[in-house]
Amino acid sequence: MIPARPPVPTRDIASVLAALTREEKVAMVQGSDFWHLAGVERLGIPSVMVSDGPHGLRQQSQEADHLGVNDAREAVCFPTGAASASSFDPELMRRLGETIGREAQARDLAVVLGPAINIKRSPLCGRNFEYLSEDPYLSSTLAAAYIEGVQKHNVGTSPKHFVANNQETRRMTSSSNIDERALREIYLASFERAVEQAAPWTIMSSYNRVNGTYVGESRELLTGILRDVWGFSGVVVSDWGAVSERVASLKAGLDLEMPASGEATNERLLAAMESGELDERDLDTACRRILELIFRYVDNRETDAVFDPQADHVLARQFAAESIVLLDNPDNVLPLEPDSAIAFIGEFATSPRFQGGGSSHISTSNVTSAVAAAAEAGLNVTYARGYDLEADEPIASLVEEAVATARAADVAVVFAGLPDSYESEGYDRRHLDLPRAHNELIAAVAAVQPRTVVVLHNGSPVSMPWRNDVAGIVEAYLGGEAIGGAVVDILTGAVNPSGRLAETFPLRIEDTPAYLTFGRASDDVSYNEGVFVGYRYYASIGRDVLFPFGHGLSYTTFEVDDLTVSAREMGEDDEIEVSVRVTNTGERAGKEVVQLYVASAPSSLPRPVRELRGFDKVELAAGASARVHFRLSRRAFAHWDTATHDWAVEGGTYGIEICANAHTPLLRTDVAVTASGGAPLAIDRHTRLGDLLEIPSYRLEIDAFFADKKRGLFGNAAIESEAISHEMIEAMMLDMPLRQLASFNDEVGCDEIDTLIARLRAI
Ligand code: BGC
Repeated sequence: MIPARPPVPTRDIASVLAALTREEKVAMVQGSDFWHLAGVERLGIPSVMVSDGPHGLRQQSQEADHLGVNDAREAVCFPTGAASASSFDPELMRRLGETIGREAQARDLAVVLGPAINIKRSPLCGRNFEYLSEDPYLSSTLAAAYIEGVQKHNVGTSPKHFVANNQETRRMTSSSNIDERALREIYLASFERAVEQAAPWTIMSSYNRVNGTYVGESRELLTGILRDVWGFSGVVVSDWGAVSERVASLKAGLDLEMPASGEATNERLLAAMESGELDERDLDTACRRILELIFRYVDNRETDAVFDPQADHVLARQFAAESIVLLDNPDNVLPLEPDSAIAFIGEFATSPRFQGGGSSHISTSNVTSAVAAAAEAGLNVTYARGYDLEADEPIASLVEEAVATARAADVAVVFAGLPDSYESEGYDRRHLDLPRAHNELIAAVAAVQPRTVVVLHNGSPVSMPWRNDVAGIVEAYLGGEAIGGAVVDILTGAVNPSGRLAETFPLRIEDTPAYLTFGRASDDVSYNEGVFVGYRYYASIGRDVLFPFGHGLSYTTFEVDDLTVSAREMGEDDEIEVSVRVTNTGERAGKEVVQLYVASAPSSLPRPVRELRGFDKVELAAGASARVHFRLSRRAFAHWDTATHDWAVEGGTYGIEICANAHTPLLRTDVAVTASGGAPLAIDRHTRLGDLLEIPSYRLEIDAFFADKKRGLFGNAAIESEAISHEMIEAMMLDMPLRQLASFNDEVGCDEIDTLIARLRAI
């Protein structure tokens, strides 16, 4: 992929840079306060402001504290990352980005700090509500669209937190100890496409260490991979307070320290230049990038951009409705009958949980509850509080009232989920459970009302002990300020649900791949599960889950057929085009997410049974069909090769699968892919005979070498006996290193083995 480049400012940055003194330059590589980049008045370099996103603007006043104690200016709260990713819709992400970019222009904000795209390694990460997915392809594709949307308005983004910041426990000191393959295939890959395709103006380096080195001091990550390989040309900004040693971080490629850390840091940088520890050219490079960012923004202001909270609230409702996932609806209790008597139960029906705590917290007073939206839609709704949001334990009188309300209605909708204290930036969850008050309320209501639907507000997967006792489950996530309206749109069928889970809902926390190592009381976090993150693990070992990655229902039905590929064989420079027909076989218009996975060929490596390599969301009228097209490059079949430190493809027959979700293939066709990349087999006395014989040219040479030997390759061992079967002889020989041929073949001595090695090496 040719990396995209942000627009270059028209101004002559080189001469601005040349006019700066050393003192001004060191002052420029840290913020001037909590939210501003330092300007230089004397040279007309303005100080621009950045603001948290990702799902709206958190523009704080001067007395800022990023923990959110000081209120930010009112803004529109859009669906959080967990919700919007469930749209499986890059176009929605682009529109979300465009909306936020326009708002940022109207509020004079140069950079929106997002999207947040760390991989959901465990469902317990307290910040999963901000993150997009457990799958890097989905995460990176959606992030790229969001970034392009924001930056279309000449406002920068800051994909964060680069990289492997997958837990909140000890987030400022922990070391994510990851093997090279998992780092590349999973954790870096979540950023890779977003950076290459969308060219974010900045990227935020995370607090944590990776394999012992703070990311902010890792030249390999910040310069080697990010810039040299991916072509990133913007500003690397530290997460707030993530700089450990400023000199080391500047040398590694961390351009901008945020927030301001004070004069002492400037002194250190000046001293480091004096002593020769720091090359002034490194400082210049960082300043140039910061100047480019500042002028890219100020020279391209959209002075006519408007911030219209009411209009954007309407968009927030649309985005939320497109993101809601219908998890279960076995008897088609949804959509609700228009004239039915509906009981809304649970405090979340009047005060939905629509966002999470921490730096992404948006200040808004324009929150639509489901009760208010239902009233506006003219629904016949009664309400019972059901639980006290502050209390974990059930309150008998509230449950009784809820049961009576449910019994008197035709259908009950229980609004349940995780209270604020259960998940937040800053700490991780301890378990998957809802408060007991919510679980018991659902059980009590379902016991008297067979038509009970549960609507969930949570930022990450929860357990559902009542799953088989209810008639419907709607995952509304933390869907932003208009979520109540969106939920009513889904319940009534005004919007046909089309969300898909961007993460697996496991049955038990003990089933999760990172269970043994996640969030322990140690700074060293072993990512022992390697590449087997999320569905890559569950699907590969055939583990049952509550709801799989990619799952989501609709009020209509779809069928896929006629899967075609442009070629049955894929050579080294080829791409494969895949196409499939999708038909809406039901009675109402709807959107289907067609998911393409590649199933690995038999491999010498442990590889996931399938991996998402394409998806597309298509809208179809009842009875309509469309063809969906995908283009697969070699990368879709590749793994990270730790011998060559590069992508490689193993030769073999790969499956192209169209799946309903990560566990359920619907159609499959095979493609023979030739090998490329990877290290050639090292040939020495320790090379295994079986490995050589698998490669045709070596096999021929070995056959030729043994042609004049009486007993051939297998030598003395070729004699079968009662104790030694032919199968055993063969297995032994294939496992034998070349040096051992001397022990088992009278006709081959050490010298001849050396000759054979030389002949094989000469091929
Ligand atoms: C968070 C970032 C955020 C920054 C500024 C940090 O604590 O990790 O995501 O952008 O604060 O609020």
